[in-house]
Amino acid sequence: MSAKRSSIHGQWSSRWAFILAATGSAVGLGNIWRFPYLTGENGGAAFVLVYLICVLMVGIPILMAEILVGRRGRQSPINTMYALAEEEGLSRYWSLLGWMGVAAGFIILSYYSVIAGWTVAYIFRTGSGLFIDADATYSKKIFVELISDPEKLLAWHTTFMLMTVIVVSRGVKSGLEQAVRFLMPALFILLLVMVGYAMSTEKFMDGINYLFVPNFEQLAEKNFFADILLPALGQAFFSLSIGMGAIMIYGSYLSQRSSITFNSFTIAIADTTVAMLAGIAIFPIVFTYGLEPGGGPGLIFMSLPIAFGQMPFGTFFGTLFFVLLMFAAWTSAISLLEPAVTWLVENKNMSRVKATALAGVIGWLLGLITVLSFNYWAFSFEFAGVVKENGMFDIFDILTSNVMLPIGGLLIAIFTAWLMARKSTIDELGLGDSLLYQSWRFAVRYIAPFGVIIIFLNAIGLFKLIGLVN
Ligand code: PFF
Repeated sequence: MSAKRSSIHGQWSSRWAFILAATGSAVGLGNIWRFPYLTGENGGAAFVLVYLICVLMVGIPILMAEILVGRRGRQSPINTMYALAEEEGLSRYWSLLGWMGVAAGFIILSYYSVIAGWTVAYIFRTGSGLFIDADATYSKKIFVELISDPEKLLAWHTTFMLMTVIVVSRGVKSGLEQAVRFLMPALFILLLVMVGYAMSTEKFMDGINYLFVPNFEQLAEKNFFADILLPALGQAFFSLSIGMGAIMIYGSYLSQRSSITFNSFTIAIADTTVAMLAGIAIFPIVFTYGLEPGGGPGLIFMSLPIAFGQMPFGTFFGTLFFVLLMFAAWTSAISLLEPAVTWLVENKNMSRVKATALAGVIGWLLGLITVLSFNYWAFSFEFAGVVKENGMFDIFDILTSNVMLPIGGLLIAIFTAWLMARKSTIDELGLGDSLLYQSWRFAVRYIAPFGVIIIFLNAIGLFKLIGLVN
């Protein structure tokens, strides 16, 4: 019966439209800004390796589960969970999963917009030739000047939030498809140009070793579960946009004929490739110019401009790079707002424009906290063995990526693999009862839930308490 359900918000015009939009959601600041700086904070290759394992064993199976649920429900994540729970004879409290996703979406969007604002600011800084022949001290100074000025941050945050609201209010399907079709390949090519530049730097191999050759001695000093696995898992959720309903709502516009498995692998491969290229482009520059790999959220803004200042046509490439990064952030931000907007349209009888405006204002207001956390309200604390210096911004980031998204993913896994009828998932995935289907089911039934639970228990020190680890 559910196969006949259709979304009141419409459908993608083709299978590629879904892949492009979902890739647009996945590829964003998470790949180019967050992945390198977390890798730097968490010591390099061991983190990268664990991250890749998390993507493969937990990320892709949950990505498939989330698209499956979305397509079967065909409504906002809150109503989809409600409808499917009813259909499967389960408690309607499952809709709380949708609510948690909406909350996570607002929190992520609020700080995402501030950071995306930095990329918009950097389009102009790079474009004006500010970084020609810049060294590390100078690029650091420019960055610190930006983040210590709340008025500037507010202006860029407001600009970016407006851009997001405009696209979402017109319906994500109209403009998005065209934008992503050209921008994603362009971003990819530009990253290759950056990798080309990185290869010409003195410390290219140091960067590669840092990213891909684990240093086990250093690893021994860390608590593997809490210091490496938890942030790596969080990054896998964040980067793939899973655990909060963003991919679920995109899945709800997907045609019944399209292969969820093929789509999921395509999205995950594109997402991971972009993150790896970003790492390969950035770390050789970091080492060559004596920057600190663990320098925190400013890492790409302090390192890449030096490269643009040195390379031929650097002002051109640099400006283009930040333009493309802004677009990548834009296509992610709109997916953060979509679950809340569709719910308002479905339940509060609001027009899309009104719903988006309301949601945008909430995200914008919350963003003010992040704006101030880089200057007046800055405070530091330790998390996963790393000193975090930007108070509420870091708390929002940790709370969403490392707690809310994994809990969302855990619940989606339990829902699809333990509670939904096996037949419903077989129907939806269209793989029959094949080995591929069984592997997916094994991963969402056992690996993903137990992985997330073990990491959590460890992170909150429960194992320490009962003496299982020291
Ligand atoms: N995946 C996006 C990125 O890597 O930048 C961020 C994101 C978008 C996270 C949508 C979560 C989400 F639902």
